[in-house]
Amino acid sequence: MSNKIRIRFVSQQKIAEVQPGATLLDAAAAAGVPVEGNCGGKGTCGKCKVRIVSGYGGEPSQAEVKHLGLKELEAGWVLACQCRPEKDMAVEVPVLTDAGRRKVRLQGGGPVVKPDPAVEKVYVRMEPPGLDDQGPDYERLLGGLEVTDSRVNLELLASLPRLLRDANFQVAATLVGGRLAAVERGDATGRKYGLAFDLGTTTVVGWLVDLDTGDTLAARAVTNPQNVYGADVISRIGHAGTHEGLRQLQQKILAACNEIIRCLLDEGRVAGDEIYEIVAVGNTTMSHLFLGIDPTFLATAPYVPAFAGRMELEARELGLDVMPAGRVVVLPNIAGYVGSDTVGVMLATDIGRRPGFCLAVDIGTNGEVVLAGRGRLLTCSTAAGPAFEGARIRHGMRAAAGAIEGVRIDGGEVGLEVIDDATPLGICGSGLLDAAAAMVQVGLISPTGRLLPPESLPEGVPPGLKERLRRGKDGTEFVLAQDGSVATGEDIVITQKDIRELQLAKAAIYAGIQVLLKELEVTPEEIDEILLAGAFGNYIKIDSALALGLLPAVAPGRIKAVGNAAGDGARMALISGTARAEASDLARRAGHVELSTWPDFQDEFVNAMYFPKQG
Ligand code: FES
Repeated sequence: MSNKIRIRFVSQQKIAEVQPGATLLDAAAAAGVPVEGNCGGKGTCGKCKVRIVSGYGGEPSQAEVKHLGLKELEAGWVLACQCRPEKDMAVEVPVLTDAGRRKVRLQGGGPVVKPDPAVEKVYVRMEPPGLDDQGPDYERLLGGLEVTDSRVNLELLASLPRLLRDANFQVAATLVGGRLAAVERGDATGRKYGLAFDLGTTTVVGWLVDLDTGDTLAARAVTNPQNVYGADVISRIGHAGTHEGLRQLQQKILAACNEIIRCLLDEGRVAGDEIYEIVAVGNTTMSHLFLGIDPTFLATAPYVPAFAGRMELEARELGLDVMPAGRVVVLPNIAGYVGSDTVGVMLATDIGRRPGFCLAVDIGTNGEVVLAGRGRLLTCSTAAGPAFEGARIRHGMRAAAGAIEGVRIDGGEVGLEVIDDATPLGICGSGLLDAAAAMVQVGLISPTGRLLPPESLPEGVPPGLKERLRRGKDGTEFVLAQDGSVATGEDIVITQKDIRELQLAKAAIYAGIQVLLKELEVTPEEIDEILLAGAFGNYIKIDSALALGLLPAVAPGRIKAVGNAAGDGARMALISGTARAEASDLARRAGHVELSTWPDFQDEFVNAMYFPKQG
């Protein structure tokens, strides 16, 4: 008799059968149910909250007592990584699907590029052989094509004799980068598709593209399932240190890509065998994990990647569910922490050709900065940490339904904007930024970042705001939403520790920007444009970012959100060989500044911790 335990995930309608001793987080991973797991199951982040609907989860662990309030514990909330069920159980996992949808919906300039794909499909009508023409099948076909890469696709060769005869010697041949990759019966030249991927640490996005027109036919995003091994690249690199860990991480990202592929093909009514090429971008760690390359040496000085150039391989080598001989292209990286996603941003924004000085900032789980001017391109990566994705923030969450994404303080009143107008569940990065900016402006937070207790507040702070301040586990905290109006039944607060995390994140980005400006001898006033790429950059309020000193103090009109520029760059490189060559050129030209060795970086960082004086 099996002693396995059945865990039913109610909202997702999925069931996992696990061995005794497994955690709910293990069960969720087995069932393919995404659960936030920023600390990789160590019990330190408090983000893997799930609610037990039926069954008994045992006494709360120390981590649960630390991270969950009394009301949450009473309502059956547990930390999935701490709870080891002994009997069958039904569990409710908050669904965060909207986080991906928002990333897909990002409006940027979009890829504007003339189609000039590396995939060519040619209709070939051959004379059938006869006793007076005994030429071999393969060479007969090649005679009608311009093949520049003569490597043979053995599978294709094996099927060719029968296929040619079945097709009466009238076929469509597909060349990918000059290599014969596929042969189909009849004139199938009108159907030629490719995929672009943005392999984000938190979210993976894919696009189905018609290679003839350059049109995007479908887009889909999923949570990067590697998140069960930690929210940031450092935790993932740590997990990849063993052969098994690396294999697990690669399998997770490839499974996510295949899930996206399934959905895109369905929506676009395209067959997997009609996908001839895939172009992927990601940070350097994600590129390594996607290809199954050990990223261990990225984590320690001198932070050397295993590869930097453009990588090309066949889809079958990764097990992606497209045409097996289809080509997968991973765009080049620039440095250990500046990856091909930044190359995508540079390509999509055409930053190298913009007049004056242009700064591009991509704030995701990492923060990458590019400064262009005087014919130079400089990049750096800032250790912003995942605070803007909600990690390490007491009630932080990703930008999904129920996340407070905007906060307004008007007199003594606090107004909240919640994604999808849902019952508040937590606060996402843009909400945190907004709340902190408003709190700095009304004097609840000092320029040094101290969340002031009621007795230290400056004159004139309305009583309605004073009442929201209280002493909590982590010092002073400000109540944003009260328990009655919160999905978990627990107040949503902003703590002193949250403000410190925000300061660290914004200081890292601002100091990185300062270093690049100094390196190029440019003052903040001389910046002509600041382009904000990525989901966070697109949803933040520019006034709040300026009020907190996340960005240099330029006129708000010079700051512009450019959508998912990394993904746009990947699509451009898929549609156009010229754009692809340009991506390689940009990666070669871009200089990289290693912040940890820059002499004054520490001073810049400490200075950037302060919030600018208001008014
Ligand atoms: S506390 Fe469970 S994954 Fe972090």
